[in-house]
Amino acid sequence: MVCERANRRRNPCDACADEYEKMASVASLNNTVQRTVCFKIKIGDNNMKALVYNGPRDVRVMDVPDAKIEQPTDVLVKITTTNICGSDLHMYEGRTDMEKGRIFGHENLGKVVEIGKSVTNIKVGDMVCLPFNIGCGHCKNCESGYTGFCLTMNPGMAGAAYGFAGMGPYSGGQAEYLRVPYGDFNCLKLPEDAVEKENDYVMLSDIFPTGYHATELANVQPGDSVVIYGAGPVGLMAAHSASIKGASQIMVVDNHKDRLKLAEEFGAIAIDFSMGSAVEQVLELTKGIGADKGCECVGYQCCDKHGTEHSNITMNELVQAVKATGSIGVVGVFVPKDPKSKDPLQKEGHMDFDFGNFG
Ligand SMILES: NC(=O)c1ccc[n+]([C@@H]2O[C@H](COP(=O)([O-])OP(=O)(O)OC[C@H]3O[C@@H](n4cnc5c(N)ncnc54)[C@H](O)[C@@H]3O)[C@@H](O)[C@H]2O)c1
Ligand SMILES: [Zn+2]
Ligand SMILES: [Zn+2]
Repeated sequence: MVCERANRRRNPCDACADEYEKMASVASLNNTVQRTVCFKIKIGDNNMKALVYNGPRDVRVMDVPDAKIEQPTDVLVKITTTNICGSDLHMYEGRTDMEKGRIFGHENLGKVVEIGKSVTNIKVGDMVCLPFNIGCGHCKNCESGYTGFCLTMNPGMAGAAYGFAGMGPYSGGQAEYLRVPYGDFNCLKLPEDAVEKENDYVMLSDIFPTGYHATELANVQPGDSVVIYGAGPVGLMAAHSASIKGASQIMVVDNHKDRLKLAEEFGAIAIDFSMGSAVEQVLELTKGIGADKGCECVGYQCCDKHGTEHSNITMNELVQAVKATGSIGVVGVFVPKDPKSKDPLQKEGHMDFDFGNFG
């Protein structure tokens, strides 16, 4: 049995409090007793459960050392909700350089159970959502609002994240507990309805802002027609965001019928690329001109209708499906190296992009 409160060395649970009482009666120093009780629990069970990467298509729920406060600016969160992202799938399939033993999970929400001594804004008991990018809050990029490109949290590369290949050593939150560096900066404190609406608020950790950001990068304006490639969570949130921004026509491309049905529920026109060229369907719906704006929400593992990967499909189709002078926002992940790809260009992180038609 894991006594999580005793593990935190504060407020032991009833069972441990009983143990404490029993031992207190035979020991003279409370301090000694307390250490003895916690030590006993530690030998047996001081491990949390977490989802650990063990190689391509092999993840396991394992006992790992508890996440803990390491710096005075840290916050420790007991995870109550966490999502699986399309980016986890790239890692799960062994298409990144994710190290064995790392804990997955960058879409996290939970309750603060401990704070470092320099933390001032966040308190024990707060419900917090954790945007997936870890920022220091004080470097040039963080100060300019580019927290996804923090210069100090992952030296040598701009940007850090929880449980993410190439984005620093930080553990993910598909686990019982998560260490949040610079907790004051990285915790999004939730309002009183946090528990009741945690399935909604957890979308703020990645998927909703990422979908919204696709529409920002594409500069979606009221009245625009927008084509979105991908009806995964990111594409659906991009469709929702385009609708919030007043787009007049939203088209979502995918070949998964269940996902396309969800896109329709968001008010979008479903375009099934298994039924014919997506570009032709978009041109037909836009009087041959093309959409005003386009969003890429698929990434480098995009496929043709036979399920064969070609990393350039969505980008080149967007060039054709969006009108000249339109703009395209790309949030799908494209990686610097992809050794497992069958395409020699993609292996090196390059792409055969129709630059000549991109005007
Ligand atoms: N930039 C960021 O911060 C960020 C954050 C989250 C996710 N992502 C990336 O966004 C992408 C989407 O994430 P998700 O969680 O929605 O993933 P997902 O895997 O659930 O969805 C991807 C969808 O793309 C569809 N697809 C494949 N080939 C296609 C094609 N040729 N045309 C149209 N659709 C095609 C798939 O059928 C699938 O439904 C991934 O690459 C993910 O890594 C980026
Ligand atoms: Zn993600
Ligand atoms: Zn920073």
